Amino acid sequence: MKLSVVDLNIYANTDKINEYVFKTFIRILLTRGDYVKLIIVDNYEFMSKKAAQILSSQIILKPNSVLGLATGSTPEGMYEILVKMYQEEGLDFSNITTFNLDEYYMINPNNKQSYNYFMHEKLFNSVNVLPENINMLNGMTNNIEHECKSYEEKISKCGGIDLQVLGVGKNGHIGFNEPDFKFEAITHLVELDEETIEANSRFFNNKEEVPTKALSMGMKTIMNSRKIILLANGEEKAEAIKQAVQGSIMPETPVSILQLHPDVTIIVDKEAAKLINEK
Ligand code: GLP
Repeated sequence: MKLSVVDLNIYANTDKINEYVFKTFIRILLTRGDYVKLIIVDNYEFMSKKAAQILSSQIILKPNSVLGLATGSTPEGMYEILVKMYQEEGLDFSNITTFNLDEYYMINPNNKQSYNYFMHEKLFNSVNVLPENINMLNGMTNNIEHECKSYEEKISKCGGIDLQVLGVGKNGHIGFNEPDFKFEAITHLVELDEETIEANSRFFNNKEEVPTKALSMGMKTIMNSRKIILLANGEEKAEAIKQAVQGSIMPETPVSILQLHPDVTIIVDKEAAKLINEK
């Protein structure tokens, strides 16, 4: 399938996109090619397998990789396979450093709904990653600015993220970068959209328990990763995936910015791919 990288309907009004995005856009326009690699698989199981294979190749080829990790139901299967690869094939996480995309704001790390808890349950407790190499945003911080700034500094100090894993929200959010009129560049505090609160309430006892805020890597943090893989499954993600692959690039659909990244692979099942038009 031949996919166009950038829809030229991109907002001409540059003050709606930050300088970083604009420069990247110009650079990519000048060296235009097929940047979005799209892998369509039959189902969730194959999506998880492909993603785990990509992560394990990254770890084998660069044992001290810096991985950007995501939460949500989408990557759960991938984490399960990675744990098996560690147990059965000796996939070695001992030199790996991790940074998670986001965390709810005002949630205790021991709370079962925190992303901190999720990551330990699904991956960290079952592989040999060193605790000191695990980086998660502190959802209980009383100094948001400092927390966000030092997270960015830690990422830079580690040499940047080699491979970032992403899921996508139904509304096109990545990390917790909600649809907005501008792209938020670096790690920041986010007000969650009603739709996101509703979608994530399935993990909580009720909607009222879902935090209304979160800390999240910004678009620049994500775009600075050397490689990105985006995973999605199910019909409810089809519109977001269409936007990721061939939508206009605009902050109202955050996932669309991935078209400007030079090394992004999107792995989706048939359901999530169903709105993509052949060109
Ligand atoms: C959350 C997370 C995102 C995730 C998205 C989709 O809001 N912050 O990182 O990609 O939801 O979640 P799921 O995979 O459960 O559909």
